[in-house]
Amino acid sequence: MDTKILSGVDLSFEVYTKLRERIESLKNQSITPSLAVVLVGNNPASKVYVKNKIKRFKDLGLDSSTFTFPENVTEESLLKKIIDLNNDNAFHGILVQLPLPGHIDSEKILTIIDPKKDVDGFHPVNLGNLTAGSPIFIPCTPKGILRFFEHYKIELSGKHVVVVGRSNIVGRPISILTSLKGRYLNATTTICHSGSSDLFKFTQMADVIILALGKPHFLKSEHIKQGAIVIDVGINRIENKEGRGILVGDADIKSLEGKASAITPVPGGVGPMTIAMLVENTVEAAERLLNNES
Ligand code: GUN
Repeated sequence: MDTKILSGVDLSFEVYTKLRERIESLKNQSITPSLAVVLVGNNPASKVYVKNKIKRFKDLGLDSSTFTFPENVTEESLLKKIIDLNNDNAFHGILVQLPLPGHIDSEKILTIIDPKKDVDGFHPVNLGNLTAGSPIFIPCTPKGILRFFEHYKIELSGKHVVVVGRSNIVGRPISILTSLKGRYLNATTTICHSGSSDLFKFTQMADVIILALGKPHFLKSEHIKQGAIVIDVGINRIENKEGRGILVGDADIKSLEGKASAITPVPGGVGPMTIAMLVENTVEAAERLLNNES
């Protein structure tokens, strides 16, 4: 069986083509969607992610500002900054890059963000709306994953989706979303995590596997059934045989080739779609503000 490689790069460019029209329409009304990014500490991966997000905003003619804080910043200073950003009309969206240092209560920080500016969709109000089946802001990675299903016409109805990982960023929201009623949704979803015994028993039964656990080359050929679809959210830095740092996913793509019917590559799969959805959510935030105010 040929394994189809589902490119997130190509798909993200389709998203940007559509967004350009909406951005132009906003600009014609003197509005440039704008994102405030809060970056704490020196996590190298976080710095790269933020750099990539900012670059995309710039390329599309959108505004963004990054507010950086040292690793030892107090929770109080961060809370104050976010309240200022909530009240600052210059920004339509606020993103706090995760993870935050251990002494900061991330939930407290995410909960103080104005839900109307919560373009990451992590605020309990947004997660609550999503769970109730009426999402407003959908977290970027899960939203990007749904676009793969829509674009490649992967019908989930009647299928068994197995999600590996239960983070609030990916695993939990995508498990809820795939099981909602709707076109390209309506799946029977199982969520597996570190407390699951015999995890591979579930992946072997799955029609679609969504991997978000952060373990390089975790999923191999013997762990899936013939023809399964694998959505790989993992981004892991490892050393190759020559000692060079490379990025790999949670799936062992070489091992899965010929057995999976389709797989998202790393890099170039889910990652570019996460950024595209952040841009889309920020454009949506600006549009909503305009429509509510006019
Ligand atoms: N860290 C890893 N993924 C994400 C994400 O989608 N948003 C934020 N804010 N932080 C992250």
